[in-house]
Amino acid sequence: MRPSLSELFLAHAGRVSDKWEQYLAIYDRELARFRDAAGPVRLLEIGVQNGGSLEVWSKYLPPGSSVVGMDIDPRCGALAFTGDITVLIGDAADPAALDRLLGDRAFDIIIDDGSHVSRDIIATFEACFPRLAPGGLFLIEDLHASYWASHGGGFRAEGAAVEWLKGLVDALHADHLEPSVDGATRGALAALNREVARVAFYDSVAVIEKPPEPKTTPYRRILSGTVADVVGGAAVLPAALAAQAGSLVLAAATAGAVSAAGVVGTQDAARAAAEAARDQAQAEAKAARARIAAMEASTSWRVTGPLRRFATMIRGKGET
Ligand SMILES: C[S@@+](CC[C@H](N)C(=O)[O-])C[C@H]1O[C@@H](n2cnc3c(N)ncnc32)[C@H](O)[C@@H]1O
Repeated sequence: MRPSLSELFLAHAGRVSDKWEQYLAIYDRELARFRDAAGPVRLLEIGVQNGGSLEVWSKYLPPGSSVVGMDIDPRCGALAFTGDITVLIGDAADPAALDRLLGDRAFDIIIDDGSHVSRDIIATFEACFPRLAPGGLFLIEDLHASYWASHGGGFRAEGAAVEWLKGLVDALHADHLEPSVDGATRGALAALNREVARVAFYDSVAVIEKPPEPKTTPYRRILSGTVADVVGGAAVLPAALAAQAGSLVLAAATAGAVSAAGVVGTQDAARAAAEAARDQAQAEAKAARARIAAMEASTSWRVTGPLRRFATMIRGKGET
């Protein structure tokens, strides 16, 4: 078993890295599948500074992995690393700089630990997300800065990175929007819907996952089981049959019940019998209540009242 990021980070004695404590558990949770991958993993980190995190990533990922750091500060270009770590100098929010520095390289993991200015976070995501490989993860650190005016953000402020990222949640639901949403918004969300499989928010970290392959058609509903006693009743299976050609998928037993008309008929007969028995019981209970009410209203019932109470007392004593 390879070491966790927490273990590596806390034991690290090389170049300095500066993270918030919760990030270690977040990375361990989100990146374990990459750490345990059979083959090499490609990681791009925006923001090198002293280079400590690049060294930790290099230890964390499987042998043969590549770790690329990009920083706008030319001093980072003078840092010397061994092994699989490369540092590139450029603006990660600039697609032209990315093309020049990276060519057509793609990455399994992209981490934005750059300026934390909302405008840069959004621009970096737009510029770098196309380079995320299918099934890859894009992680954004220090999102608390999105709540700060000093970093171009603010609480629910226009242009704040967190507000923009909330739009990815809308994109996840692009197939379910009502017609009142305008066409341009709908189109933008639909385009992102193809490329975003998951958005997760932690304290100060966002994780955006790309699907293993672009989603090209809306998800379908799946119906399983053959009995619906509470909602839908006997109409469920014929309705499923009618909808089968559309966006509904039937699980094996359901499809079997639908195709075997006799099974549907049996279900109908059983349900009709149960409903008739229930109606009869309700009618009998209603009649009994009416008889009791009539009896209690009679003179003889009122006169014999003390006797019945006494009888009840005697019965109670005898039973104890
Ligand atoms: C928080 S530090 C990175 C720390 C490092 N990842 C670590 O954990 O040790 C942020 C770095 O991002 C760099 N930076 C800021 N804006 C950038 C941009 N647009 N493109 C690339 N790097 C940027 C800064 O120069 C700075 O060195």
